[in-house]
Amino acid sequence: MKVNGQPYRTIWLKPGNPKTVQIIDQRHLPHAFVIEDLTHMEEAATAIKDMHVRGAPLIGATAAFGLYLAALHAPRGSEAAFNQAMQAAAEHLHATRPTAINLAWALNTVLAALEGVAGIEAKVAAALKTAEQIADDEAEACRMIGVHGVGLITRIAKLKGGQPVNILTHCNAGWLACVDYGTATAPVYAAHDAGIPVHVWVDETRPRNQGARLTAWELGQHGVPHTVVADNVGGHLMQHGMVDMVIVGTDRTTYTGDVANKIGTYLKALAAKDNDVLFYVALPSSTIDWELRDGMEIPIEQRGAEEVKHIQGLVDGEIKSVLLTPADSPAANYAFDVTPSHLVDALITERGICPANEEGILGLFPEKKK
Ligand code: MRU
Repeated sequence: MKVNGQPYRTIWLKPGNPKTVQIIDQRHLPHAFVIEDLTHMEEAATAIKDMHVRGAPLIGATAAFGLYLAALHAPRGSEAAFNQAMQAAAEHLHATRPTAINLAWALNTVLAALEGVAGIEAKVAAALKTAEQIADDEAEACRMIGVHGVGLITRIAKLKGGQPVNILTHCNAGWLACVDYGTATAPVYAAHDAGIPVHVWVDETRPRNQGARLTAWELGQHGVPHTVVADNVGGHLMQHGMVDMVIVGTDRTTYTGDVANKIGTYLKALAAKDNDVLFYVALPSSTIDWELRDGMEIPIEQRGAEEVKHIQGLVDGEIKSVLLTPADSPAANYAFDVTPSHLVDALITERGICPANEEGILGLFPEKKK
């Protein structure tokens, strides 16, 4: 997608320096556009853990490039020592964030690619090739989510006779959360680019405000009309016919269709059900957990209390953090919740749209049948 008219992805190899990976450090958005260099695996791990990068597909891609950085610096004495260092690096990267399954998927994909290759330098090359392939595949999957999902918006646009289609989204499941295009935003961008009038209600998404800071910024960069709302507004909007559909992303979806996504998604799904508003989840297949039947078993990340107790913003041209709560009040920070499959109208994937259940998902991905 474009930033000030220039095309960007969220992660790439530094031009002229293939030993450096570059990311957009999203902590500074929307107030500053900062590019960060990653040269060691530990920096990639910190970037994931401290959310310089975030969003399930991008966490996976960053972990894959992190393994490439680990390979560049792993011991060269013997292949066994190299392999051991790579295994340790994968464990280190895996420990950064627990909920998005893309992390384990990407790490396993890189490690599996290395297994089939003999010789240390060939393994380093394979790590880079696989990380780049993962990034390309994720970008293409998101583009295809747009191709499949745009019809859902077009259908409503026809019924509304040219009035804008109002879409509510939660958190940032845009291109910043992915490598390009986004998941929830891919159909929105496709509709906007096709001249279909759309308007997006952007949930602010406390405590880290991914909606207010990131989704609003990227929609604005692309010229998509949008309005930021406080997290609790969605139910009111739905009761008054001001939301035609909800589209969200996910960090892990079970093969039975239960959806883990940013905290607060479940409440939006409940409100959508109560108001007959369509509730869609957009995801690449790298976000499906093929081992887990019950969404209640998805590990839910708990982050530090300071994220709830403080809020960040621009003060006199500088990003500052201010205390919101009594200094001594304890705070709990559950980062994700699970929306049961029966509240989800359909999943939008790179292979098409399916019901959020085992039959629907395996119908699109028959090779995963056990
Ligand atoms: O904590 P974050 O910002 O990594 O959470 C991101 C989300 O919850 C997104 O909705 C999800 O990863 C889908 S991204 C396309």
